Amino acid sequence: MKVLEAHNIFAGYGKSEILHGVSMYLEEKEVVTIIGPNGAGKSTLLKALMGYITIFKGEIKWRGEDITYLKPHEKVSKGFGYVPQLGNVFPSLSVLENLEMGGYTQPKEKVQEGKDKAFQLFPMLKEKLGEKAGTLSGGQRQMLGMARALMTDPELLMLDEPSAGLSPKASEEVFLTIADIHDKLERSIIIIEQDAYQSLNISDRGYVLVMGENEFEDKAENILSNQKIKEAYLGG
Ligand SMILES: Nc1ncnc2c1ncn2[C@@H]1O[C@H](COP(=O)(O)OP(=O)(O)O)[C@@H](O)[C@H]1O
Ligand SMILES: [Mg+2]
Repeated sequence: MKVLEAHNIFAGYGKSEILHGVSMYLEEKEVVTIIGPNGAGKSTLLKALMGYITIFKGEIKWRGEDITYLKPHEKVSKGFGYVPQLGNVFPSLSVLENLEMGGYTQPKEKVQEGKDKAFQLFPMLKEKLGEKAGTLSGGQRQMLGMARALMTDPELLMLDEPSAGLSPKASEEVFLTIADIHDKLERSIIIIEQDAYQSLNISDRGYVLVMGENEFEDKAENILSNQKIKEAYLGG
């Protein structure tokens, strides 16, 4: 079953149109990676899906319901979780405070449940509860960003370049964790990535976005073995 469907989305900032009719979908519990050159509109697509920017035209459906114009907090209550590329944790707050902020819309027992779940998925966080998020390594910060987004128990998790700026080792850990979140929590996940190999490796399908338009889509394994796409978008 398709849980998310975006049809022919035109969106941008102010009057400037960045997405010129982008379409995509996500099956229940699928992991999908969106790749494409810098400036292609990948982050803009996530912001449009999440309700942060103006959608000029097109339709977004969640489980068959038109949610195109819902506000971000309304999308959160529908089950959307979003980890932006930058600013996904509060550096001056502790790890614990960051988790609690992530769950502030939730009832108390849900916050406790969320924390317990976070400690299972990210055991490292439990040892750093009192430390300021700003003192964490890049990889740990990314884990905290994901843990924070999971505090609302989202059905759909959208990750904007989770490996950006990380060392190869930290990046590998982040992707192992995403695969673990998918296995254990069985959520639907959209990942935007520059490090497309690792991301496609844990994905079911992928999209290539170029200049605000769909360029290509296929099963992840086919993209990984497509010589033309590899040369053009995966660095050969
Ligand atoms: N806040 C913004 N205001 C105006 N233009 C923006 C803003 N953010 C991004 N853009 C523009 O939108 C285009 C797509 O950016 P983005 O979605 O961030 O690309 P990607 O994530 O694929 O690298 C770029 O031309 C960028 O300059
Ligand atoms: Mg981006």
